[in-house]
Amino acid sequence: MRQSSLVVVANRLPLDDSAAPDGACEWRRSPGGLASALHAILEQTPATWVGWNGGIDSAPVLPDIGSLRIRPVGLSEEELRGYYEGFANSTLWPLYHDAVEQPVFDRRWWETYRDVNRRFAEAAAEVAEPGAAIWIQDYHLQLVPQLLRELRPDVLIGFFLHVPFPPPELFMQLPRRVELLRGMLGADLVGFQRPQAAHNVAQLATKLLGAQSTDDQINLDGRVVRTGAFPVSIDVSEMQALAARPDIVEHAEQLRTDLGRPRRVLLSVDRLDYTKGIEHRLTAYSELLRDGRVKVHDTVMVQVAVPSRERVDSYRVLRDRIEGEVGRINGEYGRVGEAAIHYLNQPFDRADLAALYLTADVMVVTPLRDGMNLVAKEYVAARAAGTGSLVLSEFAGAAAEFEDAFLVNPHDVDGLKATLLDALDADPADLRRRMRAMRDHLTRYDILAWARAYLTALDHSGRLAAGLRK
Ligand code: ADP
Ligand code: G6P
Repeated sequence: MRQSSLVVVANRLPLDDSAAPDGACEWRRSPGGLASALHAILEQTPATWVGWNGGIDSAPVLPDIGSLRIRPVGLSEEELRGYYEGFANSTLWPLYHDAVEQPVFDRRWWETYRDVNRRFAEAAAEVAEPGAAIWIQDYHLQLVPQLLRELRPDVLIGFFLHVPFPPPELFMQLPRRVELLRGMLGADLVGFQRPQAAHNVAQLATKLLGAQSTDDQINLDGRVVRTGAFPVSIDVSEMQALAARPDIVEHAEQLRTDLGRPRRVLLSVDRLDYTKGIEHRLTAYSELLRDGRVKVHDTVMVQVAVPSRERVDSYRVLRDRIEGEVGRINGEYGRVGEAAIHYLNQPFDRADLAALYLTADVMVVTPLRDGMNLVAKEYVAARAAGTGSLVLSEFAGAAAEFEDAFLVNPHDVDGLKATLLDALDADPADLRRRMRAMRDHLTRYDILAWARAYLTALDHSGRLAAGLRK
């Protein structure tokens, strides 16, 4: 395989294969923030993406996406269980999200996690040209920076964590905390969504590794590891262009008609994940219906919950609970031809998502903890008319950038109910002011600004950032 000067390493490739209606295999963009963010910048930048194709025991040759070459890494059934479903998504994911679900510590998963990290490191080492930059993404691959440093001392190594980095007292629970911290600090630059994460890592590096640390620099084993916050964003112009397309505007109108032309539409779009606060939101909404504060023929709620990690027990259990609750709410408050909640457990393409955002008067984004939350940014990008309210959890990274949203603590169901009512009944002039402020911020800090900031910090010469699309 040809070598590249920029190599991205992420567990998930930006494409999913799926069966088309005619039975053929077709490729579509993977749901999830990481794939959405990187897809946007790498589509037109010469680079190689090393990642798992999502299948088991297969690593087919995958099509290039524009100038982006794909180097697939295959996983066996056992690796999938130990590395992806186990250590990454049953230990690290819940622990890094404030342990909103109990993390599972199963000693058998560790070796598989380490072996698969080694395979990703070897694949990246193979496709990186001399002096290349290798940019590793997320908690699945936390050991790759140090492993790569041993294999390829000539390359620049970046690591970016898309999820929160937990407070030290939670991280300290991890049985392999020293290896995980050392692994990540093998990078030249470690990037996070929020400054607090860099602070947490500095404290842990001092405590566990005896390093000399500040919030932007860790001196370890005679090397300097730089750290910092680089809040990720979206392809604003892509979403704006979609939301302005006449066929999509028409589709949004049709959706409203299909919903029975209610006065107000609330929308939530999440991966079906326990960090997203879907159950708290359903409780709040059902109580508003019960109290008569919201009436079904006047207001409808649409909950899109795209299937995610379905082989992991906690996700299966969550899906059953959510679907039971939606059924209960519709059974109790719906009427013939008028559902209280429209629940869609399906992936959508970007155009359909844009139409949904245009239809929504109130976008409800209430995760219990979220590294960033790109859905909130996509909604703001789609609302060129300046209408619409964003209800946003204080515990999403995006809350630091969107102070003009209706911010809420999703654990406080009474507060959530009150905020939903505020957002539903807000004065249009106030909404326009809020939306304008959020859109101004978003157009300045789009996905290219993020990539430019990170890559410039990784490589001061500006060589990497210069390769990005204008
Ligand atoms: P996370 O990374 O935890 O999934 P984000 O909100 O940051 O959360 O990113 C989710 C991404 O997945 C967004 O780009 C969103 O548009 C996309 N997405 C969410 N739901 C769907 C869906 N039903 N179909 C396709 N893409 C989806
Ligand atoms: C979050 C994680 C990503 C992950 C995505 C989708 O955004 O930070 O690393 O790719 O969720 O999850 P999945 O398990 O389907 O890759």
